[in-house]
Amino acid sequence: MIDTQVLRSSFLSRYGAMPSACFAAPGRINLIGEHTDYNGGFVFPGAIEQCIACAISPNGTQMVRAYSIDLDDYCEFDINDQQGPKHTHFRYLYGVVRELMLLGVAVKGFDTTFAGDVPLGAGMSSSAALESCFAFALNKMYGTDTLSKMELAKVGQRTEHNYIGVKCGIMDQFASMHGRKGELMRLDCRSGEFEYFPWHPEGYRLVLINSCVKHELVGSPYNDRRMSCERVVAAINRLHPELKAETLRDVDWSHLKEVQSEVSEEDMRRATFVLGEKDRVLAVCDALQKGDYERVGEMMYLTHQGLSADYEVSCEELDFLNDIARQYGVTGSRIMGGGFGGCTINLVRNDLYDTFVATAVERFAERYAKQPIVIPVVIGDGARQLE
Ligand code: GLA
Repeated sequence: MIDTQVLRSSFLSRYGAMPSACFAAPGRINLIGEHTDYNGGFVFPGAIEQCIACAISPNGTQMVRAYSIDLDDYCEFDINDQQGPKHTHFRYLYGVVRELMLLGVAVKGFDTTFAGDVPLGAGMSSSAALESCFAFALNKMYGTDTLSKMELAKVGQRTEHNYIGVKCGIMDQFASMHGRKGELMRLDCRSGEFEYFPWHPEGYRLVLINSCVKHELVGSPYNDRRMSCERVVAAINRLHPELKAETLRDVDWSHLKEVQSEVSEEDMRRATFVLGEKDRVLAVCDALQKGDYERVGEMMYLTHQGLSADYEVSCEELDFLNDIARQYGVTGSRIMGGGFGGCTINLVRNDLYDTFVATAVERFAERYAKQPIVIPVVIGDGARQLE
């Protein structure tokens, strides 16, 4: 957790006064349901303890003055500027400001310093944490309290779409806004309905192992994956106009089969993964209700297999970590988040935990001559104002 004293004193020394408030928003894990959000399916995330936090005060002008403590980087921009800063931390800030203004929030200039402990490029949603932190803060400062957490999550998502160029789904920002200590959430990304699931897996722990292969969705084939899914939906709609399918959520296995010769083999594999993943999230919910963690783990391995072979968003290092987990008898393991680097998420029995973690670190270091980073998962609260 970020020390608010550090934030406040950095603010004081930079701007010469104490901030009027401090806010924080977390990164997230996802138990299962990957690349299903933009396909209208289900996801199963939870917020984590690691956050991005800011100290902030209105400054009575039209200028935003922002300082990133971690990167020792400073930027100023006018809230009415049409271009905004180039692609850095500050572009996320600019996007959030502009998207809130479009919703009618009377944002004015402000001073801020911010810092975080969500590892960057690890697939733990550091950018969603940044967006959610400022969307929450600016809505509190300038809003009329009419925007729901879901609307604020969408502000973050539109920032990614319109200012960063990543056509992401809603999972990361949703989780960062709605998280609750000790609870995961199952979100239906088509209807926006969600439920909290207490997460107290007796006898098991979740741990992330960060391969430290930088996961970067900007410029990654993430958007291509989304387009593959959209092409399959379009082919199904051509054959079945009555379906009016908006996403892969609206189609079933028989529709997929029918368009096999209409779409590329690659698009077919992408869609096959998504339909399977949709079923796996529901299977996991069912298993959780019965306390059947072995079944949860089985589904996690299947997800990894699909993400690696069919969706092709894994990399050698993540497959290596997944293999070690399997060989070691770990209950479940898979790539977490968008892929192309980042972490595996592992569901590990308590009695295996210490030796598994030690073995994974040792074998990874032997193979790749660098240490992976072990991050125990603690499910924490969503966006909030800090004392
Ligand atoms: C990234 C995106 C999310 C989601 C995941 C994959 O984290 O931001 O919207 O698509 O990848 O599940």
